[in-house]
Amino acid sequence: MKILGIESSCDETAAAIVEDGANILSNVVVSQIDIHAEYGGVIPEIAARSHIEAINPVLNKAFKDANLTIDDIDTIAVTHTPGLVGSLLAGTLAARTLAILHDKPFYPTHHLKSHIYANWLSGYQPEFPLLAAVISGGHTQIIYMERHDHFEIIGTTRDDAIGECFDKVAKILDLPYPGGPAIANAAQSGNAKRYHLPIPKVDGLDFSFSGLKTAVLRTVQKELNLPITTPSYELQKLISQQQITDFAASFQATAVDILVKKLKTASETHPAKSILLAGGVSANQLLRNEITKNFSKTHQVFFPEPKFSTDNGAMVASAAYYSIQSDEQATDPYKLDISPRSTIR
Ligand code: KG4
Ligand code: ZN
Repeated sequence: MKILGIESSCDETAAAIVEDGANILSNVVVSQIDIHAEYGGVIPEIAARSHIEAINPVLNKAFKDANLTIDDIDTIAVTHTPGLVGSLLAGTLAARTLAILHDKPFYPTHHLKSHIYANWLSGYQPEFPLLAAVISGGHTQIIYMERHDHFEIIGTTRDDAIGECFDKVAKILDLPYPGGPAIANAAQSGNAKRYHLPIPKVDGLDFSFSGLKTAVLRTVQKELNLPITTPSYELQKLISQQQITDFAASFQATAVDILVKKLKTASETHPAKSILLAGGVSANQLLRNEITKNFSKTHQVFFPEPKFSTDNGAMVASAAYYSIQSDEQATDPYKLDISPRSTIR
């Protein structure tokens, strides 16, 4: 079964054609990162307009790369929630139009489900039950899956998402957007033991990342002997290159430590055969190393290929494939609703 997967929930316009949930026939991603980097974060209005400009060329290239036409496609899948409203509208409108004009079965797909199913691309078959850490710019959740298409959220952030925290800490340290790769890069030449950052105490399997961001801000202010009222833009003028790399390394190590510890607790309360990372932050190499070190003796450990960690259309096609395998019915493309926020089901 060949599925066209379309993704436009944030700042990547993406389309891919995937056969049977794993065999990638084409995968096209146009990132808007350069446009938004100028502003230090995603500007929703600009994102929506850029998607409208990019969606047709991206779709054309996805067909061309796969050497296929719309007639060869069995099903169309698209991210319809959660995400930026204007961005979601651009992708879903294109997908609905194709489904209606060419009379194709239509599967609106939840973005976090797609991130999880990025782990099935390239033919891996994680065994159930499994624990998936969904760690992206907008979400931080530990999800327990007993079987395909069955999601139980057992831990979630009470404030900021982990990717958001990377992005905000990067701003404090005067590093570019998106903060995750910039921090990982700076951390390579930093000393992770130089600054002690407290781990926020949150009961159970929930997270709090807003406290960690504030801890970085306060520690930078203290290090520079400045009062706690000093804004980030003043700190950026005074912080040295060595301090930036040491803060990046110390912060990254703490964020990874928080995640590893919560996953350890989750694996005690929810015995699982596999542990998966999903979402943009799963591209982080230190995190991959630490998860492998801590879990590979007791679990099968899976990460998406780095290019499938961040937003892409292939994961949408894979998620839809497994929904179809689990007997989910197609949706009427005339009736599709988008939603900026919603829980994975
Ligand atoms: O999944 P994604 O592409 O979009 C959302 O659904 O949010 O994730 C984007 C997030 C950003 O916060 C970015 O800073 C983070 O993923 N990220 C990383 C790395 N690469 C991207 N965080 C840590 N280390 C990385 N190497
Ligand atoms: Zn995402």
